[in-house]
Amino acid sequence: LFIVHITPEMAPIAKIGGLADVVFGLSRELAIRGNHVEIILPKYDNLRYDHIFELHPVYNDLWVPWYDGAIHCTVYFGFVHDRKCFFIEPHSHDNFFNRGSVYGFNDDILRFAFFSRAAIEFLWQAGKHPDIIHCHDWQTALVPVFLYEFYQRLGMTHPRACLTIHNFKHQGVTGGELLRATGLHQPERFFDWHRMGDNRHKNALNLLKGGVVYSNFVTTVSPRYAFETKDQGQGFGLEPTLHTHHMKYGGVVNGIDYDVWNPEVDRYIPVRYGLDSIDAKYDNKRALRQRLMLADNEKPIVAFIGRLDPQKGLELVRHAIFSTLEHGAQFVLLGSSPDPSINNDFWGLKHMLNESPDCHLEIGFDEDLSHLIYAGADIMLVPSQFEPCGLTQLIALRYGTIPVVRTVGGLADTVFDKDYSDRPLHQRNGYRFDNYDVPGLESALIRAIDCYYQYPDHFRELIKNAMRADYSWNYPGQDYLNIYDFIRDR
Ligand code: ADP
Ligand code: GLC
Repeated sequence: LFIVHITPEMAPIAKIGGLADVVFGLSRELAIRGNHVEIILPKYDNLRYDHIFELHPVYNDLWVPWYDGAIHCTVYFGFVHDRKCFFIEPHSHDNFFNRGSVYGFNDDILRFAFFSRAAIEFLWQAGKHPDIIHCHDWQTALVPVFLYEFYQRLGMTHPRACLTIHNFKHQGVTGGELLRATGLHQPERFFDWHRMGDNRHKNALNLLKGGVVYSNFVTTVSPRYAFETKDQGQGFGLEPTLHTHHMKYGGVVNGIDYDVWNPEVDRYIPVRYGLDSIDAKYDNKRALRQRLMLADNEKPIVAFIGRLDPQKGLELVRHAIFSTLEHGAQFVLLGSSPDPSINNDFWGLKHMLNESPDCHLEIGFDEDLSHLIYAGADIMLVPSQFEPCGLTQLIALRYGTIPVVRTVGGLADTVFDKDYSDRPLHQRNGYRFDNYDVPGLESALIRAIDCYYQYPDHFRELIKNAMRADYSWNYPGQDYLNIYDFIRDR
């Protein structure tokens, strides 16, 4: 198959969250299985250009309709660790993508509407005919809308569209300006409740809803989150739309890229290890302590890595820091937020705990350090309010770092409680709690710390179970191919 991903993010060149890792990992898996895969991204000025090879312009004359005129663009090609990537660069003095960061602007909706239109215009003008166009989140949810309204309806092209929703919280809700900018005339057609009319706000358009309505298939990133969004009120208003379109909706648990996240080959950790050499994990633990100036003692290290977003359960993270220290363990946090007030809160906490030899909070984004934490920590905390899939627990499992998670979304589909799971013993790989409150959190966190101290053999078994499980792209890659085959036949 010829598959094109149209995406706002891809690791490592433009990574904000897990969506970036998913595009990077899935595209590789699809290519290994003999498909031709291309990826289209905006040419942000802050791409990590050191990871892009042979970057050169390949298409100088892309004209993208915009308001009453058109914006001239150049398309570049480059390899990002074997992935074939095209980058769209508009030539206007207000270049949408030369702003120093990926998101955070008042006109984000128009920026990504433009990108979505430009990506399809590029395919069309360059004479490319993919079988499948796979787009991601609200940023590119207009792709299936444009595809149908501007091309398929006129009998011009027939790629099938798959939309993956990584998070229902952000949907791209906006006003009629969007229609004027993109040339989707006939406002009554698009404000219609059956198309893009928002379910909660009158006279508003919802890009993600448009994506759901117009795509041939819609996935989210775990079966449990698919259920929560459609039937448990977690769809941020899209529940009725998911009900209408339930025949083309489902969940596929993300994989992780074992070329990047694998303690046997990881270049960012001082000592590599695998199932046969688990003890070497503790050399990384020492290195982590040295790097973060933590005391060298017998204690287990509990870690948290993630965006400092309310989604991630920040009150519980805060509480877990104190609870961990009280129960004789060390705590490491790596995280940051685009919201300065959240960062400030954590800076405050950091100063307060400055004297503690058992705690280190690192406020910022640091991919290299994250590898060392995955390898060096003993326990990984993921106490999310909601979690579509979650990659941190999957990466932690691979590194033999035992996840302590709240039983929601993809966390519930991938972590199985050591003491209470219905899974056979050899599949149990962590600790879970249900209630989003302090007793809930402690019911799992303290069991994990106690097990480390009191039943080291059991803890060692958990590590083995964690490292043995296959959370690579192997299975999900096949699931997506099945979906592509299914929609191609219709
Ligand atoms: P989300 O997409 O909601 O942010 P995921 O768990 O799917 O959550 O993916 C998060 C990814 O981002 C993981 O690869 C994690 O290691 C990485 N990450 C998050 N915060 C940081 C940070 N501050 N520094 C380095 N990596 C981070
Ligand atoms: C989103 C979700 C996260 C998921 C990631 C990749 O950012 O918050 O749970 O793992 O996308 O699909």
